[in-house]
Amino acid sequence: MNKRFYLTTAIDYVNGQPHIGHAYEKVVTDILARAHRSLGEEVFFLTGVDEHGQKVQQTAAANGKTPQAYCDELAALWRAFAQKLDLSVDDLIRTTQPRHQLAVQAALARLHAGGHLYQAEYRGFYSTKEETFLTEKDRRPDGTFDPSFGEVTELVEHNYYFRLKSHQAWLIEYLEQHPEFVQPLSRRNEVLGFLKNNELEDLCITRPAARLSWGIPLPFDPAYVTYVWFDALLNYITLPAAYGDETVIKSLGLEAPTGDAIAQPLNLWPADIQVIGKDIVKFHAVYWPIMLRALGLPLPKTLLVHGWWQSEGQKMSKSIGNVVDPIKVIDEWGVDAFRFYVTRELSIGPDGNWTDEGFRSRYHAELANGIGNLVNRSLSMLKRYRQGVVPARHDELAAAAARAATETIGQLRACELQPALVTIGGLIAQANQYVDRTAPFKLAKDPAQATRLDEVLYNLTETCRILAVLLWPFMPSTAVKIYTQLGLVGAPDKMDAITWGGLVPGHVTSDPVALFPRKDQPPVKPGVKK
Ligand code: MSP
Repeated sequence: MNKRFYLTTAIDYVNGQPHIGHAYEKVVTDILARAHRSLGEEVFFLTGVDEHGQKVQQTAAANGKTPQAYCDELAALWRAFAQKLDLSVDDLIRTTQPRHQLAVQAALARLHAGGHLYQAEYRGFYSTKEETFLTEKDRRPDGTFDPSFGEVTELVEHNYYFRLKSHQAWLIEYLEQHPEFVQPLSRRNEVLGFLKNNELEDLCITRPAARLSWGIPLPFDPAYVTYVWFDALLNYITLPAAYGDETVIKSLGLEAPTGDAIAQPLNLWPADIQVIGKDIVKFHAVYWPIMLRALGLPLPKTLLVHGWWQSEGQKMSKSIGNVVDPIKVIDEWGVDAFRFYVTRELSIGPDGNWTDEGFRSRYHAELANGIGNLVNRSLSMLKRYRQGVVPARHDELAAAAARAATETIGQLRACELQPALVTIGGLIAQANQYVDRTAPFKLAKDPAQATRLDEVLYNLTETCRILAVLLWPFMPSTAVKIYTQLGLVGAPDKMDAITWGGLVPGHVTSDPVALFPRKDQPPVKPGVKK
């Protein structure tokens, strides 16, 4: 059975407000998923929501709802959010689903039987807001805890612990030998630095059910529920277990897939790319590999760590009122403009800064004047001068298009999305300059230049077609619109179609329609909530 190319995102806290940060991560993963599909791979793209924990239990109670009813409502919003972003997800996992819980319990039973867990007393200061015990390092110089931790109380509990200490040496070695494991390299170096300079403390992986009932019960001790992070990380393998992944099913000691009956089992694990934000690197680059190793499972090939978005130069916060609402931006400017801006503006790794001005300016310069103008004027001229009929093939821009295509493909394979958009932008600029240089509107006035006009029109129309193929992972509906205007059926969703000469002479194109209408007049604020 073939293994699918498996991509995952972090699973969002169901009770959070979907904002540009969540949207960015999901769009980046979607572009990678579409790119790999377009390159001919069988892909599985998973996203999801993280539903357990104290905050959910408390907020549900405050709203007079059961936690499950509360989560059901919110999960529906997150599902709609994924659709709004035009994500080509294959599944959306919820940590309250039986398929997840069954596999989490199987994993816990395995770890328990393998001697990876032990029980011990814990005494410490607990932040309810952060759902974590604080350490001495969290104290401020005056001995108090930062108000960002919310209410901090001293607790004594007996809990289950997951042994981490004994794993430190091999993990350091693994990171050293696999520089591709945590990307970009700066993040991998941070993780290595942390592991070399600190002794890992075993991880408390339970909460007494008396204090927190909204979690997955331990299969061997129902007085406890599973720590929300331990439960959440496992989603990346519980989903494969639901689809009958042979490696995962075997390692969890399951007898059958935990999901609904499936026609054909899928092999997904190990994940090829796991996309996460910089704040959750420790969970994914330290705890997660150790959990997998303890379960006898291979590690994911790559953890791709992105930076955080600020808005107008500041951390996004409700009180400042600068939270960028992606839904509002999409309703006003279209989903592809949003997908384009976040990917073009920020490379994967550093932090980014959303500005309304930056968004408007890229929209006009690169979408309206760039690809929009190129497609519009190429097809309008073909219509005006040749009734929309594609002339004889000519190869003047073929080499430039081939160069851009090869470079873009290499960049997509290397997860370099911003550079790929720069490459594609280069081809758009070249084609726009070609119009200015060859001046088809002048050629059209001189009957002696009819052949030259044919040549120019072929080069432009064919370049538009190739651009549709290259842009498809980034802006799928725009790419389809370009195809439709070219009179082609279906979606430009296969990279195979980048070979020059796809448009055959005599083919009739359709009417051009503006892809990204200019919106220069009224000063609107695209993202900021009023
Ligand atoms: N539920 C955990 C993840 C569990 S994964 C097994 C969680 N959820 S979250 O909703 O807080 O964050 C989800 C993702 O969104 C994380 O990867 C996080 O880094 C990302 N972002 C949240 N705010 C962000 C920005 N302002 N900018 C970019 N991404 C950010 O953590």
